[in-house]
Amino acid sequence: MTETQQSTALDTLLEETRSFTPPREFVAQANVNDPEVYARADADFESWWEGWAKKLNWDQPWTKVLDWSNAPYAKWFEGGKMNASVQCLDRHVADGNGTRVAFHWEGESGDVRTLTYADMLAEVSKVANGLRSLGIQKGDRVAIYMPMVPELAMTVLACARIGAIFSVVFAGFSSTSLKDRVQDQEAKAVVCADACWRRGKVLDLKVVVDEAVADCPSVENVLIWKRGDGIGTAATGDPRDVYWDDVVVPQPTDCLPEVMDAEDILFILYTSGTTGKPKGIVHTTGGYMTGAYATTNLVFDLKPEKDVYWCTADIGWITGHTYIVFGPMANGVSQVLYEGAPDFPQQDRFWALIEKYQVSVFYTAPTAIRAFMKWGDQHPAAHDLSSLRLLGSVGEPINPEAWVWYLHHIGGGKCPIVDTWWQTETGGIMITPLPGITTTVPGSATTPFPGISARLLDEEGNEIKGAGGGYLVLDRPWPAMLRGIWGDNARFEEAYWSRYPGIYFPGDGAKRDEQGFLWILGRVDDVMNVSGHRLSTMEIESALVSHEAVAEAAVIGVPHELKGQAPVGFVILRSGFEAGPELADELRKHVGTLIGGLARPEQVHFTPELPKTRSGKIMRRLLRDVAEGKAIGDTTTLADPGVLAGLQADYEKGDS
Ligand code: PRX
Repeated sequence: MTETQQSTALDTLLEETRSFTPPREFVAQANVNDPEVYARADADFESWWEGWAKKLNWDQPWTKVLDWSNAPYAKWFEGGKMNASVQCLDRHVADGNGTRVAFHWEGESGDVRTLTYADMLAEVSKVANGLRSLGIQKGDRVAIYMPMVPELAMTVLACARIGAIFSVVFAGFSSTSLKDRVQDQEAKAVVCADACWRRGKVLDLKVVVDEAVADCPSVENVLIWKRGDGIGTAATGDPRDVYWDDVVVPQPTDCLPEVMDAEDILFILYTSGTTGKPKGIVHTTGGYMTGAYATTNLVFDLKPEKDVYWCTADIGWITGHTYIVFGPMANGVSQVLYEGAPDFPQQDRFWALIEKYQVSVFYTAPTAIRAFMKWGDQHPAAHDLSSLRLLGSVGEPINPEAWVWYLHHIGGGKCPIVDTWWQTETGGIMITPLPGITTTVPGSATTPFPGISARLLDEEGNEIKGAGGGYLVLDRPWPAMLRGIWGDNARFEEAYWSRYPGIYFPGDGAKRDEQGFLWILGRVDDVMNVSGHRLSTMEIESALVSHEAVAEAAVIGVPHELKGQAPVGFVILRSGFEAGPELADELRKHVGTLIGGLARPEQVHFTPELPKTRSGKIMRRLLRDVAEGKAIGDTTTLADPGVLAGLQADYEKGDS
């Protein structure tokens, strides 16, 4: 098929797939298939969550489910004691499931390791003992800078086991970003890998760590795990450096877990806010584990005895924390863990892995789906993907084109898709279909998870009932909610609880359709106001992407004399289409036709690349800098800083 034929076929699919009702066989076997669950959870959300908490192993029961008297500082399961690593490991082994595979790990160059739950328990215990031997104790902070290897999951769980507060820093971050995070939390140790593989190249992580910790007096030790093939080249000899082989490997394979209070901190995860300084989001133990366990169980409909689950996120992001380590492992499912890039050695790597490991539940991001679409239908078509029974999406609004492509080309037209809206701060999924209940609509995250209350408010805080658009808020506490920003209560209260006093403000806009489904429009800082009308950059992007010539698009609002702001589009073309003023004009009209004249971009620029973070989010802030001719702001999270120079040069040339 040519690209044009492919996109015509996509238009037809889009036309035909207005909604998706879960197949009868799926409903029959689903963990939950009775819509009454929503009313039951709403009637008494504390008992709903308490029911989930009771499914975990507690050393001591709680005396109170929720204390919200000191809002916005919640306490869930007060008085309860547990250890998060025990939920993920010991209880499965105790239940006789120690021989079940925890991870089918595959390195980028094809090396393979299989670790059972019993193996993981033994390995985690060794790491925990090793950390204790370095003097790490309950409450100490440990920063982790590792690639997608089992040792990353082991280190996370080992910290949880001894009560050390861990903070994973995505291993694509620069040394400055790592340093800022280590300094902010005053980490006592950094655990890292010497190196890893990415698209066939060696990334020397230890060099980055050396640069970062040079300026981190709190760090007493750097514990180094070697990737194994002698690929790391960093110098050794710093007295703080210690090696996994010496510290971890000789340790005994059992380790008494620290008994943690439900509200003891489990981890800090840094995320960007509106200022340059990242926010250290704090999550605690009992509530987070309850939320992770419940949402994984219901949203992914897990059957631990037979499912093979694969979440393609990096453990360095919240998705990897909750939906690789804690949620799936608390449920005891087998997972695929992959070190490398989706297009290495070829653009079918993911589909090859799904076929090889018979993956049944697959969770990825729209940005990846759009890349797969661009690479062509032939890649998934070359593999048997019939093991899949459920698909998930996370991280950004999924445009209907990507949604229907995912359903038909990956899900064989039969797999429900769960489009899951949530944030680092929420700890777990908040708005999502339930795959055995919800008749989904391409592009909508549908309704809040049972027990979660989401509302739409206008500027003044008036509730928008029925169909309409507004600010999305969560007006009821939930167990996995953030408990604060590390060392910065004032910022915590200001950023999330002051816009509408006492109500959690996630910073996203959303609309509700006639049938009550929610459509996330994106961050409100990405929403523009054109002639007094609010327009979502996402909506315009979706319109651009629906044109057969467009592979990817980013839209920003630029200052406009008359309209206040005007949309400007940056577009990556599918191969076979010619950039030029005619096509730019056609695209502008296309948007005008789909959304209305108001949304028609002032300019459309063609570009081979868009500035993206390493997790694939388009950095519109940088596009705005380009458009406004400003000095380019902070680019530390940008995957490829070179993209901007080209964009700037093109932009200065004017339209298209
Ligand atoms: O704007 C929303 C978007 O990602 C933001 C949260 O980003 P982060 O904390 O990095 O967590 C990403 C993984 C949970 C949200 O404020 N977002 C996330 N999921 C969706 C989404 N936007 C639309 N639809 C989603 N499913």
